[in-house]
Amino acid sequence: MPKQYKFSGKRVDCYFDVDFSFINEKLQKEKTVFITDENILRLHAEKFSGWKTIIIKAGEEYKNQQTVDSIINQLIHLQADRKCFLVGIGGGVITDITGFVASIFMRGIKFAFVPTSILAMVDAGIGGKNGIDVGVYKNLVGVINHPEFLLYDYSFLETLPDEEWVNGFAEIIKHACIKDREMFQFIEKHSLVNFQSSLSETASIIQKNASIKYEVVSQDEKETGDRKLLNFGHTIGHAIENTAKLAHGQAISIGMVAACRISEAINHFSKTDTKRVAGLLLKYELPVAFSFNKKKTWDILLHDKKKSGSEMSFIVLDRIGKGSVKSISLDHLYKIFNSL
Ligand SMILES: NC(=O)c1ccc[n+]([C@@H]2O[C@H](COP(=O)([O-])OP(=O)(O)OC[C@H]3O[C@@H](n4cnc5c(N)ncnc54)[C@H](O)[C@@H]3O)[C@@H](O)[C@H]2O)c1
Ligand SMILES: [Zn+2]
Repeated sequence: MPKQYKFSGKRVDCYFDVDFSFINEKLQKEKTVFITDENILRLHAEKFSGWKTIIIKAGEEYKNQQTVDSIINQLIHLQADRKCFLVGIGGGVITDITGFVASIFMRGIKFAFVPTSILAMVDAGIGGKNGIDVGVYKNLVGVINHPEFLLYDYSFLETLPDEEWVNGFAEIIKHACIKDREMFQFIEKHSLVNFQSSLSETASIIQKNASIKYEVVSQDEKETGDRKLLNFGHTIGHAIENTAKLAHGQAISIGMVAACRISEAINHFSKTDTKRVAGLLLKYELPVAFSFNKKKTWDILLHDKKKSGSEMSFIVLDRIGKGSVKSISLDHLYKIFNSL
């Protein structure tokens, strides 16, 4: 039985821990088109046998309109019609682009995701945001639309590169910081190697994290309250990601430590807890400090969409396991930012 989540009346079925072959029971080969990237296809070729498949190049640089056009042309070539069902099998790039294409092709066809990276399983595949990048502007064009279902087959993770495990755990630690103290303690007791060698432990932590994201999003679809908490570490993180060549997970890791320091300054968060968060990030091979260009980073941060007038809403921690949204004056934030 799937776990069911509701978004504005739309039901999303979540099949946690099922074999990929379950898709045979859900969909018909004639009416279905898979979308994946060349890495997933190469490593899991047997799963695609007999299914119409559109393959795109792997990497964020292909999450753009040109790839969308190419997918649409291939759908036309495959004589796809309104009844065609798309399945995105891959990381967040694939889930984002599949959801976007499905939402615009023939004004919208049905779709589903088989997330294959930890990040897509706990974050990108959930919440209905789908889209593409335009030049340097990430996720500038997109839609909100939910898949019919998600299928989690954890055996995909056996081929996930180490750096992608690290990236995924940055979001898992974020969820623990803002919502789940017990999970924080659980992750502290484990290590990346533990999780990589035990798919059952990984399955359970992924399901927990997916549920955290589902619950936060379904309670606040318009992003007026709790959903903002998911941006913990992301305001400064995104600005650093844009100025330095860092992976998203690494950038938000540095962003989370900075946000903990800001929480010390404006929210009585304890120094000991900042050290604890940094310790956990380091344990999962994530950086906690980085000599970045403060001026450039600040300029980018000012363009952040969360800014309103001379104030900015910033995600802080009250304590480990509880995040909150605080409005902070830009002058004050600038002073703290400069002292980091
Ligand atoms: N829609 C949302 O709410 C949301 C949220 C967070 C992130 N995102 C988006 O997600 C994207 C990042 O997702 P990602 O980190 O999964 O990136 P990705 O899709 O680029 O995958 C990372 C790399 O891992 C490879 N890969 C994925 N699964 C694999 C597997 N099982 N075995 C071997 N290789 C595998 C991919 O081929 C790729 O090279 C970004 O574009 C980001 O904007 C979207
Ligand atoms: Zn993120």
